[in-house]
Amino acid sequence: MLERIDSIDGPGKVLIINNAGFGNYGAFAARPMELHLGMIGLNVLAPVELVARLMPCLLERGGAVINVASIAAHQPIPTLAVYAASKAFLLHWSLALGDELRPVGVSVLAVCPGPTRTGFSKRAGFDRRADSELFDQSADQVVQETWRALNRGKTMVVTGFFNKMIAAIAMRLPKTWSSRLAGQSVSRSRPAPP
Ligand SMILES: NC(=O)c1ccc[n+]([C@@H]2O[C@H](COP(=O)([O-])OP(=O)(O)OC[C@H]3O[C@@H](n4cnc5c(N)ncnc54)[C@H](OP(=O)(O)O)[C@@H]3O)[C@@H](O)[C@H]2O)c1
Repeated sequence: MLERIDSIDGPGKVLIINNAGFGNYGAFAARPMELHLGMIGLNVLAPVELVARLMPCLLERGGAVINVASIAAHQPIPTLAVYAASKAFLLHWSLALGDELRPVGVSVLAVCPGPTRTGFSKRAGFDRRADSELFDQSADQVVQETWRALNRGKTMVVTGFFNKMIAAIAMRLPKTWSSRLAGQSVSRSRPAPP
């Protein structure tokens, strides 16, 4: 039976996990506007609205928010332009919100997975080469690293060793360079976008 969270009496912290999201591979100009806006709606507006609506419960009970961003949050990515920008929003918003809410007993964790074996790639229109999938993580691995990070009070976790290295490099490069490099790297591991 579904119950409204604000109608449940008694103690108990709140955990909000903003996981739903999708990407789409291809040139911005070749994609319909509705697709771009839908992606921003799900990846950006929905998490902000959910957290804002549940804020009274969060403040009353304490708890945590987990926002599933992406390694794509660390650099602009041609052919994934809206997706990468939406995840950059989620990452920056999470970090700032976490600093605001820490004093009142609410933690916020931004999770930045890299390629993970789920339905995401197919839906995004990637036709990745098998050899480029060798280092993909499983969803279980991402979940385990997420719980560890939450329990240690971290505010951001990049999951997987190779993803950590890529994010560390991307974060140190000028944005103009990392955009070019990301575009080249995506085009090497995936077919030319339609
Ligand atoms: N897999 C990766 O390589 C990867 C890498 C980095 C970050 N991420 C992020 O990880 C998160 C989870 O993705 P995933 O890998 O598990 O991909 P997935 O298998 O495609 O699952 C996507 C999830 O989002 C939900 N969803 C998609 N469109 C929706 C919509 N319009 N309204 C409501 N729910 C919607 C889906 O619900 P239904 O099943 O009901 O459609 C599903 O639960 C996403 O935020 C994604 O950006 C994934």
